[in-house]
Amino acid sequence: MYLPHFNKFTYQLPYLHINEEEWAYIKETFNKDDVKESLAKIAMDYSPPYMDISEDDCRKDFVNLKKTWVYDLLKEGEWFARTETSYDWPITYEGSQWYIKRLNTGNKASNHFQQENRWSVDGTISPGPLRTWGELKFMTSLMGAAYTLDMKKIDKSILRTLDFSAGWGDRLAGFYSSLNTELYVGIDPRKENHPIYEEQARYYDKHLTFFETSKKAEFHCDAAEDFDFTPYYDTFDIIFTSPPYFNVERYSYDDTQSWVRYKTIDEWNSQFLHKAIDNMWPTLKTGGKLCINISDVNAGSGGKKSWLKICDPMNDFIEEYRDSDYLGCIGMEMATRPNSIGAGTAVVSGESNRLPDMVKDKSGRFCEPVWVWEKK
Ligand SMILES: C[S@@+](CC[C@H](N)C(=O)[O-])C[C@H]1O[C@@H](n2cnc3c(N)ncnc32)[C@H](O)[C@@H]1O
Repeated sequence: MYLPHFNKFTYQLPYLHINEEEWAYIKETFNKDDVKESLAKIAMDYSPPYMDISEDDCRKDFVNLKKTWVYDLLKEGEWFARTETSYDWPITYEGSQWYIKRLNTGNKASNHFQQENRWSVDGTISPGPLRTWGELKFMTSLMGAAYTLDMKKIDKSILRTLDFSAGWGDRLAGFYSSLNTELYVGIDPRKENHPIYEEQARYYDKHLTFFETSKKAEFHCDAAEDFDFTPYYDTFDIIFTSPPYFNVERYSYDDTQSWVRYKTIDEWNSQFLHKAIDNMWPTLKTGGKLCINISDVNAGSGGKKSWLKICDPMNDFIEEYRDSDYLGCIGMEMATRPNSIGAGTAVVSGESNRLPDMVKDKSGRFCEPVWVWEKK
């Protein structure tokens, strides 16, 4: 039931605001479900709470990203994955476990451009931020948080990179902020992303200094499995991407999206992921690395929901090449909040999408695997 007490919080400037005293009074006085519903109703009259990221914030964050040194991020240490005991391939790298620490630096450098685009996308298990803001039932459940949350060279330079699911432009920001990179090729079929990639690249270009390598970014609006890679044969030092996690992430409903085209996990594995890798393998130079951030998923395939294998079939597929060498797996540290949206993705990274027996230690470090292969 809507509580008229909340009328006074409508149309506030600059934005909805309930001070500590008021909030304490509300919690003490009214029924929790009524508060959640009332809060949801009034909040929906405000625009979604996008973070204000000014151009100046973006520039400063981009400069800070440039100062980030690989050894500050790449750490030796234990981590666990969603389905760690069921991967056939070891999640170690050169004999021990390594992971990439969570880092917020750089988020503003890409989010200044991509925030609204990113928020417009839904996950399969939960709606995206924009849809949540538009539907009362999602908003009411979201308002529960008001109660639960405490409110008071490594040894050589990488020069040319391919990103075959370019997503929200985070790797593009990473490319521009690295000293020795010179070519970024980004492929993604989501057409809404492309004008924003162009805008990002123009902006970062403007902020490169005299001392940095000049950079070239090329974008292709296409499905990776359809793309003609011939012009790029023997070009890349690194292929690094985070493809969609089968149908758990639905970035758009266009028929170039892999989840729209391939309805079962077997089709998706072979006709999207394996086919795309197969087509791009000749673009990798000898000694080049293929790094894929992907994990198995708990999702529907052929009408029923279960744990679906993506990683082992992918690694088994790459192993078949006579010139491939498995280097290992590095963890990418993620938030472990249940049902939280993963770091910059529409994937559900919480316990609901992990096998219960895999959550060995709830306070342990949760990572997504990045599988690393080298071309011999
Ligand atoms: C958003 S990324 C994954 C998230 C990543 N961590 C990031 O933030 O950059 C996944 C991308 O895969 C793209 N995608 C979907 N189908 C694809 C296909 N057939 N070929 C290449 N990319 C595809 C989606 O459009 C989406 O932008």
